[in-house]
Parts: sequence; structure tokens; C-alpha cells
Amino acid sequence: MVNKITVVGAGNVGATTAQRVAEKELARTVVMVDVVEGIPQGKGLDQWQSAPIEGFDSRIVGTNGYDETSDSDIVIITAGIARKPGMSRDDLLNTNANIVKQVAENIKKSSPNAILIIVSNPLDVMCYVAKQVSGFPRERVLGMAGVLDTARYRAFLAEALDVSVRDIQAMVLGGHGDTMVPLISYTSVSGIPITQLIDKAKLDAIVDRTRSGGAEIVKHLKTGSAYYAPSAGAVQMAEAIVNDQRRILPCAAWLDGEYGMKGLFLGVPCKLGRKGLEQVIEVQLTSDERAALEKSAEAVREPMKSVKL
Ligand code: APR
Repeated sequence: MVNKITVVGAGNVGATTAQRVAEKELARTVVMVDVVEGIPQGKGLDQWQSAPIEGFDSRIVGTNGYDETSDSDIVIITAGIARKPGMSRDDLLNTNANIVKQVAENIKKSSPNAILIIVSNPLDVMCYVAKQVSGFPRERVLGMAGVLDTARYRAFLAEALDVSVRDIQAMVLGGHGDTMVPLISYTSVSGIPITQLIDKAKLDAIVDRTRSGGAEIVKHLKTGSAYYAPSAGAVQMAEAIVNDQRRILPCAAWLDGEYGMKGLFLGVPCKLGRKGLEQVIEVQLTSDERAALEKSAEAVREPMKSVKL
């Protein structure tokens, strides 16, 4: 357990994240911050009152300012607007860039040693905004996307094969968008290569469904986007950091030469521990996978250019 975890944004993703963090007792205090007066306070109180039933000792508090967040160990940023049907993640760019910029400025002052986990979309560009504005080293700025995209891929595979989700190992790399790169060569079921268990047409359909997994949910919800699986993804990353688990998870990390790329956030296998990003793991890719990763990097670089910091 660490002393304090702050969740910025008390909407669907933020509130669900705060509840999961508290239920796992990852921090003594969980602070939820939002600009809307009353929402973080009301939700925080409601969540805290679930503690005697669920049996957790983490204390959740809601606030509109940053005083209560001071010296947070980890800050999970979920502030921003969510997608509506017909919108791509890039349609959120300017609004969310301004929001993440304002949040990062505040966190820089109140929690200069925090590890940031970004969830706001478009994810890879919001990570860039948070890193540039905070000035934090790359070890302390990570984005949650790969864990979610991989979870969607694993869930669809488990359903198609009628096996436990626990037995599906996989890795989805690249940007958090239509160009994401599910690595078929690293997909297995209890060590058995996936290509031995499913035919190509079915696997291709699952890969396509994974790529548009977020949009599928937006289409159902009509008024917002996914939050149960995204919050679970952010909390898995926080748990790996708090408990120094050295887990290897696909996360958006600032590349500094890995995979032959520099100066952008992209989903790659990361080792997470108490320092945050402990290592970017470079795996061998097929020529198709490498080409897809480079295409995905281009799709991240393009919107990065239009962000004003
Ligand atoms: N500081 C703090 N909170 C803010 C700010 C800000 N500057 N601006 C907006 N918010 C809050 C809103 O008041 C709202 O409560 O962020 C919250 C967003 O909540 P929702 O609208 O429910 O959106 P949610 O589904 O939680 O998604 C948030 O995460 O997955 C991504 O694409 C998604 O970018 C979106 C973000």
C-alpha cells in the first residue's frame, strides 16, 4: 500500500477507477478530483460508505482542488470528454489536450514526485501533453491502452475458443486507435500458439473486432464510452507499481530509440515496478508486424503536431 493515489476526473472511468483502487487497498488515501462542484464529494462519500460492507480501509475523498492531492505517489488522469457515436478518439484532441494540460500543471506543483498513468483520449497524444507539461522523466509517465486492448482481444479469443480468459496470453502494441497491432506471433493459449487452435478467417475477424472494440461499446451506450475495462486496466498498472510486481504489460511509453523510434508515446511491452517504467522490452517482430507498428506510430505523430502546449 502507498500513502496516496489521486484520480483526476470523477466521471465514469475516474469513479470506477477510484473504487477499484480502494477495494484493492492500493493506497491509504484515494483522492478524486473533478471540476464539477459536488460530484467528487458526493461520489467519494458514497464510495467510502461501501468500505464497511466491502471491508477495505482505504479512505476515499472527493474534492475540486489540488490541496488534498499533495504528495500523491500515483496520479491516474481520466479527466476529459468521452466519445459519442460517430466520433473517433482524435475528435477529442483539442478539448482533452487543454484539460490534460491544466491537470498536469497542477500535479507538477502539488505532487512533483508522482507517477502518472494517463487514461484520457486520444491516449498516446495525451501522454505526450502530460509529459511535456509536467517535465517528468519517462519512467514516471505511462499510458493505459495496451492492457485494455489486450483484454478485449483476450476476451474475444476466450469466447471463440470456449476456454478460460486466464489461459490466453497476448500482447496488443501500437497506438490506441484503429492502427493498434495485435501480435499474432505472441498470442497463445497456455503456451499453445493460437494459429494451432483457430482458423485464419476467425482470427482475422477477432483482430478486427479488437481494433474497433471501443467503438462497439460507444455504439451501444450512445452517451459515452467504455469504463469498466478501462478502469480495470489502469488499476492493474497501478497495482504493478504499488506492489513492485515487475509485471510485463503493454503500456504507452515514451520511446527513446526502442523499436527504432524516438520522441513519441506508443504501446510497447513495459516492465512496471516501484519506479514506474522499469524497462521497455524489445521483442522480435515479423516484417508485417513491424510495418504495422510503424504505420501506427505515424497515426500518433500526426495529431501530436497539432497540439499547442
Ligand atoms: N479537471 C478535472 N476533471 C475534469 C476536467 C478538469 N480540468 N475537465 C473535465 N473533467 C471531468 C468531467 O467533469 C467529468 O466528470 O472529467 C470527467 C469525465 O468523465 P466522463 O464524462 O464520465 O468521461 P469518462 O467516460 O470517464 O471518460 C474520460 O477517459 O477513456 C477516456 O475517452 C475517455 O477521454 C475520456 C476519459
